[in-house]
Amino acid sequence: MGLFITFEGMDGCGKSTQMRLLGTRLRKAGRNVVESSEPGGTAIGRQIRRILLDAANHALSPTAEMLLYFACRAQNVDELIRPALDRNEIVLSDRFTDSTLAYQGSGRGLGAGTVSAMHQVACRGLDPDLTILIDIDLETSLARTRGRKQADRMEQQRVEFHARVRGAYLELAAREPARIRTIDGRASIEEVARRVWEVVSPHV
Ligand code: TMP
Repeated sequence: MGLFITFEGMDGCGKSTQMRLLGTRLRKAGRNVVESSEPGGTAIGRQIRRILLDAANHALSPTAEMLLYFACRAQNVDELIRPALDRNEIVLSDRFTDSTLAYQGSGRGLGAGTVSAMHQVACRGLDPDLTILIDIDLETSLARTRGRKQADRMEQQRVEFHARVRGAYLELAAREPARIRTIDGRASIEEVARRVWEVVSPHV
């Protein structure tokens, strides 16, 4: 079996940059690496992503939103992740079910039980071997995302929503310290990359 590593954190935490850097480093070390992201990852996933992030979709209900994230994930698992792990490769994913636990379970208030039940349907027992949580505070997240393009549908949520998301991430990390490793995302890109490698290198 290969190795499945996910990256998690609030918008603007730097996880996409860190995932790319890790991918490059692992490839240089001679490993085959597949990179995925959610929502997205596959051609079908990218179509689902457009629905999820379109700021015009105010009417999308919390349950429909959760199911679309899981539809995207099920496609990633079947098309990309499982086959790569079966080929003994390393899979890196920018977000996975911990995002749904934080954003829909806690942010939307759907509850961890509902999200975990859907995870069983969509992922059929596939859990990450290792999760890197790049933690930044709410103010840093808001400042970094404000500086970007126009806010998407999720970024437009109220401050209280994002506060619940961060709280949920920290709780998840406290509950599963062996799998979820928290790194302070306010350090420089190089310093965060060094810490990511410290966590990952014993596994590869
Ligand atoms: P991204 O900016 O990391 O591509 O993620 C898009 C947005 O989707 C981000 O605001 C987090 C949100 N999201 C959820 O609400 N639930 C999920 O399950 C996932 C994967 C992302």
